[in-house]
Amino acid sequence: MSVFHHNILEGKIALITGGGSGINFGIARKLVAHGAKVALISRTQEKLDAAAAQLSPEGTHAVGFAADVRDPDALKSAIDKTKATFGKIDIVINGAAGNFLAPAAMLSPNGFKTVMDIDALGTFNTSRLCFEHLCENGGVILNITATQAWIPTPLQIHAGAAKAAIQKMTQDLALEWGPMGIRVIAIAPGPIDDTEGMSRLATPEMKATLESKMPARRYGHVDEIGDAAVFLCSDAAKFITGTTLVVDGGQSLIGSAGFLDFIS
Ligand code: COA
Ligand code: NAP
Repeated sequence: MSVFHHNILEGKIALITGGGSGINFGIARKLVAHGAKVALISRTQEKLDAAAAQLSPEGTHAVGFAADVRDPDALKSAIDKTKATFGKIDIVINGAAGNFLAPAAMLSPNGFKTVMDIDALGTFNTSRLCFEHLCENGGVILNITATQAWIPTPLQIHAGAAKAAIQKMTQDLALEWGPMGIRVIAIAPGPIDDTEGMSRLATPEMKATLESKMPARRYGHVDEIGDAAVFLCSDAAKFITGTTLVVDGGQSLIGSAGFLDFIS
């Protein structure tokens, strides 16, 4: 049972990078449940096909198009296919990301660049290539960032730098594209259960330590990020742009305290 009206996003078309799994798939599921149709974009076609079939067994409300967000030509082709399939694009969710734990002193230049390229450049590429489509009717760009963007976090220099770049782009694009009717906003999720991201960042023992320090005393659920996305993409948020909504059970209030134990 949703707290939102079931057709709050009726008629909206959303393109979601990284939409075949985890948090972004959860966002896609919530968007479809509230009336939107979605195109899922990531590198793995089989994964996207399975995700789309799960969202829309009859094939009307979800499709998947493989593209690497670092490759503008492949990305443009996927965006063009989305337009050809659904006729327009109203919502762009930049969720594709890569991450791993690495001490800065051990991280190779290419390791740093790879995460910057997927997260930050990928967000720019997708936003830029969707711009002309969003201009047609106005729309929303929703970036998925992380609290590492502003909280110094050990073993996360690459992801923190990339998410900080995304947060800055959220403000700059909101400023430049607002007059075209495009809102640009971000969600910074805290630790979310049963995701690839948290499985890479924390073992079950680390999870227990972190949860015991968080104000909410628990990790979040994918659906809780999905609900925030439904709100931000809906007309209920039509005066919200250029800002980041932190959805983290208060984890950022304790800074990196929970994570510092991971390296001590
Ligand atoms: N620690 C340190 N460096 C690492 C690393 C790790 N765990 N994993 C990869 N790297 C480095 C590689 O060594 C390589 O650098 P090098 O050429 O100097 O050796 C560089 O990163 C690129 O690795 P590669 O495997 O070629 O990148 P890719 O583009 O195939 O994959 C990743 C990108 C590395 C981010 C991969 O983990 C991925 O695809 N992740 C997607 C899923 C994910 O991360 N989900 C969580 C989202 S928060
Ligand atoms: P996930 O399931 O691994 O999601 C990442 C997605 O990005 C995957 O579907 C992956 O699909 C896609 N992807 C990776 N590299 C890509 C590329 N080069 N081009 C296109 N797609 C690419 O992880 P998640 O934990 O749910 O994370 C989702 C988002 O939430 C990320 O932006 C992450 O930074 C953010 N976040 C997560 C948490 C958390 O607790 N998990 C907390 C804060 C922020 P392919 O492999 O098929 O390409």
